[in-house]
Amino acid sequence: MKGFNRARTGLAGAVATFTILALAACGSSGDGGDAGDGGEGGDDLIRVGFSQLGAESGWRTANTESVKASLSEENGFDLTFVDAQQKQENQIKALRDFIAQDVDVIAFSPVIETGWDEVLQEIKDSGIPVVLVDRTVDTTVDDPYVTWIGADFKAEGTTAGEWVKENAPDAKIFELQGTLGSGAQVDREEGFGEVVGDQIIGKASGNFTRAEGKTAVEAALQAYPDMTMIFTHNDDMGLGAIEAIEAAGKKPGVDIQIVSVDGVRDGLQALVDKKFNYVVECNPVFGDQLAELIEKVAAGEDVPKETIVIDKAFDQTITQEEVDARAY
Ligand code: AHR
Repeated sequence: MKGFNRARTGLAGAVATFTILALAACGSSGDGGDAGDGGEGGDDLIRVGFSQLGAESGWRTANTESVKASLSEENGFDLTFVDAQQKQENQIKALRDFIAQDVDVIAFSPVIETGWDEVLQEIKDSGIPVVLVDRTVDTTVDDPYVTWIGADFKAEGTTAGEWVKENAPDAKIFELQGTLGSGAQVDREEGFGEVVGDQIIGKASGNFTRAEGKTAVEAALQAYPDMTMIFTHNDDMGLGAIEAIEAAGKKPGVDIQIVSVDGVRDGLQALVDKKFNYVVECNPVFGDQLAELIEKVAAGEDVPKETIVIDKAFDQTITQEEVDARAY
């Protein structure tokens, strides 16, 4: 943002201490391109560098669509969007490129929680405010971000655990974990484990993808022949689990129950088809809320330190009409 006089120090303190002296922008939308795509955006646009962690799941695709739709030029943003393909080094490179571009706001969804200290310090030194999206960071840097928006992953795990406790107290559970070290994996595991940890007979990661979920369940069917339930950290891995269970000649949802998180259309369809037993929603459509936060951050206005996106939960009473009406 040239011709923009932004306070470059003291940003790490309380949100309210963050000062923006003027608003102006240049550059244009970098739609899915490399950081540095830049271009000919209007002078009044807010320049945002967004590092998305990947495109590993239906949830992520819906989240990306929501972010891009809301951070549009018509809405006053000049977005440079970079997909890191689930690699932290790609995210770190994108963040450094955003510093070099001197964007107004950096937003990113960290693939895992740790390993950000150096780059977060560099961003802090540059004075560019950070908006953390979806997942969380574990860092030694003081006040590394202005605000975070995302779901309460621990509560999602707890909700899943409570359903199991009430509906399948004798289930022998295999836990299909997301990307190890990600906020979503760490917190869902903790929330679920606190309620029904004594029922878990094995765990492995499927990295939040359908293919790796299937592979992990193929191995688990051999290793834990007595399993009667899978708690999967997302729908995509659960859909992979269905393939593995059916290939082994068993009935998903009956011989092996499946409790999942996300609530994308394919996951809810599996619930209607009685192959999933329970789904805790993780709502990816928060682009408008994110846009509002970024606008305020760029204007130096106060924002809450965190915004929790509201989730629901679904059991097999869900109807086909509800699934068909689902936006993602
Ligand atoms: O961080 C949110 C999680 O990431 C979603 O549950 C999962 O589908 C995605 O890959």
